[in-house]
Amino acid sequence: MSKINVMVVFGGRSGEHEVSLMSATSVLRAMNKEKYNITTVGITKKGIWKLYRGSIDKIQSGEWEGIADNWAKENNFSTNISVLPSEEGKGIINFGDGKTEKIDVVFPVLHGPFGEDGTIQGLFEMMNIPYVGTGVLASSLAMDKAMSKKLFELEGIPQAKYHAFLVKEYKENEKEVLDTIEEKFTYPVFVKPANMGSSVGITKVHNREKLEKAIELAAKYDRKIVVEEGINGREIECSVLGNDEPIASLPAEIIPSAEFYDYNDKYFAGTSKFEIPANLPEDVIEGIRSLSVKVYKLLDCSGLSRVDCFIERDSNRILLNEVNTMPGFTQISMYPKMWEATGIEYEELIDRLIELAIERFNERSILG
Ligand SMILES: Nc1ncnc2c1ncn2[C@@H]1O[C@H](COP(=O)(O)OP(=O)(O)O)[C@@H](O)[C@H]1O
Ligand SMILES: [Mg+2]
Repeated sequence: MSKINVMVVFGGRSGEHEVSLMSATSVLRAMNKEKYNITTVGITKKGIWKLYRGSIDKIQSGEWEGIADNWAKENNFSTNISVLPSEEGKGIINFGDGKTEKIDVVFPVLHGPFGEDGTIQGLFEMMNIPYVGTGVLASSLAMDKAMSKKLFELEGIPQAKYHAFLVKEYKENEKEVLDTIEEKFTYPVFVKPANMGSSVGITKVHNREKLEKAIELAAKYDRKIVVEEGINGREIECSVLGNDEPIASLPAEIIPSAEFYDYNDKYFAGTSKFEIPANLPEDVIEGIRSLSVKVYKLLDCSGLSRVDCFIERDSNRILLNEVNTMPGFTQISMYPKMWEATGIEYEELIDRLIELAIERFNERSILG
């Protein structure tokens, strides 16, 4: 069998650039080199694409960028890659000096805006290249908390009460927006940029003064803001894998060490606890799994997603929090860990995702 040419893309313009570096390092280490020819492309925080031929060990620290520049200089390459559809029409990446490389499938190991939100997915659609993960529509829907919550509401999926508004509306009439929030919810509330991830820009708020500060912070990341009632619940996550017939893993529980599962707690403090699989009654486990598959299908996800829920402490109700279409993917991240607990190892997971990408592409090509 000939090797599959995979382009792994990492970094990116989002606030989750560093998270992507961690995920990509794990993916690259685990990918079976007998099966795959790997081309590595890093996207800088400013959005420049650079071909990276250096060591996997230099990605996480950010050193890859300088190494890519030096390598390009030495080889008389243009540092930057232009990604254009080729004359052959399929699967070719054009590099700065006119050299091309055939790509069978792209694995965008990118989190957050410009990576997980349908934008880069659209680029690969244009280029006619299969890519790992969810398509354009589902990616953008899942990334936009205001839109996905609206859809979940319409479909009667249980979730926290929320209020979404534009930063512009807020700037024009701060008092009215603040009053509306206070009428609708009792503290604590959560303030979030609509499009973000990894808890970036999110604040748990206990009073009006903090509410203003939290909105200002969230407004740094997006023009749209979502405020939600604070749920007193257990945080449960579930991994979903597949295209039209997705399967759900055993759920896991996160026990944050901070007041909530914030950025520091997620990636640096290392003091959160995880129960994988979660210690829950059988019927609750099944409830989480079936809700996860339902939501996955509702958004029309493909490849993978992690569905995050709360189990409300008082009522035991399962409430949907959000869907992550490119969840953290290091070897110790929740998504792969839940699969491991369910019987799929990390390496196999990567193989399946690549197969699913090609399968989805072929199905769509038949239609085209
Ligand atoms: N409505 C809520 N009630 C209680 N905790 C919440 C709520 N919304 C968010 N959180 C906490 O904040 C974390 C991050 O929020 P989330 O909506 O998942 O954003 P992100 O996309 O950045 O992960 C959650 O994992 C949870 O700990
Ligand atoms: Mg989350």
